[in-house]
Amino acid sequence: MDPDIDRIIFTQQEIERCTDRIARQINADYANESVIVISVLKGSVLFFSDIVKKLTVPCEMDFIAISSYGNTASSGKPQLKKDIDADICGKNVIIIEDILDTGKTLKSLCDLLKRRNPKTLKICVLLDKKVKKACEISADYTGFEVEDAFVVGYGLDYAQKYRNLPYIGALKEEIWKK
Ligand code: PRP
Repeated sequence: MDPDIDRIIFTQQEIERCTDRIARQINADYANESVIVISVLKGSVLFFSDIVKKLTVPCEMDFIAISSYGNTASSGKPQLKKDIDADICGKNVIIIEDILDTGKTLKSLCDLLKRRNPKTLKICVLLDKKVKKACEISADYTGFEVEDAFVVGYGLDYAQKYRNLPYIGALKEEIWKK
């Protein structure tokens, strides 16, 4: 285990079972349909790639970047940094995100994409933090509910580090309180 990690919250095996379960649900829900899956950069990339590898429905992949965070605290309004390439009008769309925390990022993303008139728009999140949301938003597919710890790994970062860890862990307080 990385020395900066206090404890593992979800192991590689648990994550593997979680992506299996979600991909099965998506394959069942979109049988006979195609879907555009959108990865929200950068946090969702590992989760996204594990999910898409398990999809059997025809899919297109796209990427969007929206960011509201510095190292630790939300700075308020999410900023669009990179848009998708696809025209989603009349298409089935699934946003794949790593974590639903205050909900501001996903709310702003959904509002943006809804204005482009997709046929359907769903949200898939790896982690749903058990905290009060600042916005009315919930996921259609959820990996795990997670305690209110500083979680890193499997795409999630602190100051751009730890994204490559194959598990999800709680960062030691002495690291993020420095
Ligand atoms: C993180 C995370 C989500 C968002 C969730 O993004 O990836 O997009 O915060 O928080 P919220 O529900 O409170 O809005 P970040 O801006 O850190 O970018 P990253 O994905 O590149 O790490």
